[in-house]
Amino acid sequence: MNIILLGPPGAGKGTQARQLVEQRDMIQLSTGDMLREARTSGTEMGKLVADVMDRGDLVTDEIVIGLIEEKLSGEKAGGFIFDGFPRTLAQADALGDLLKKAGQSLDAVIEMQVDDDALVARIIARSTCGNCGEGYNDIAKPIPADGKCSNCGGTEFKRRADDNEESLRTRLMEYYKKTSPLIGYYYAKGDLRTVDGLAAIDDVAASIASVLDQ
Ligand code: AP5
Ligand code: MG
Repeated sequence: MNIILLGPPGAGKGTQARQLVEQRDMIQLSTGDMLREARTSGTEMGKLVADVMDRGDLVTDEIVIGLIEEKLSGEKAGGFIFDGFPRTLAQADALGDLLKKAGQSLDAVIEMQVDDDALVARIIARSTCGNCGEGYNDIAKPIPADGKCSNCGGTEFKRRADDNEESLRTRLMEYYKKTSPLIGYYYAKGDLRTVDGLAAIDDVAASIASVLDQ
């Protein structure tokens, strides 16, 4: 199964994708994670996108489509979870073409509905394990009291450079201007399914599971 998790910053795309990887052996393709990795490893592309990401603007279609193309041709097993991609109509068209070329199809686009106040609160409270990337949230999923990551035992936690109020405002604006038209695009194609992203993490996971098991 190949699915897209569609939703604004903080909707819970990464949180749910990680669970699906564990439970269903799917492959998470997060363009945000790939771009952050490129920055950490200091590649030319990583340097090129750093300021854009920190501001909360979108990286060019050409760069992210290239990243996805590389992954689709490299890995064949399991289904793909597209997390944070596509984000523009041009990216959505490109994904359709890439899947077709690979002899694959898109099975569902899961829109995670949330409200903006919840997004701000979630993002300000977010951290991740510096070792394994497990996500935490000061309110919904606090770091264990012993200060160790529940997944790997790591003790260093980090916060993202774009998780501040100003960048978040830009990220939300970019979402409404460029990404939200994809809701209509996939609705018209008959692929759109909607889940309540405001529910508790496990309840959102259950709603996604019922879409996948339909
Ligand atoms: P990206 O990394 O994709 O960031 P984003 O879309 O802004 O989304 P987030 O990762 O912030 O949110 P999420 O939905 O994954 O939420 P999470 O699960 O962490 O992109 C970053 C940047 O890269 C972009 O701004 C852009 O510059 C660039 N980029 C990436 N892809 C691109 C593309 N295709 N085209 C162009 N540019 C691109 O959850 C958030 C918090 O809430 C966590 O703390 C979590 O624990 C908590 N939480 C999750 N679910 C729940 C719940 N149900 N209840 C309570 N708390 C919850
Ligand atoms: Mg994410």
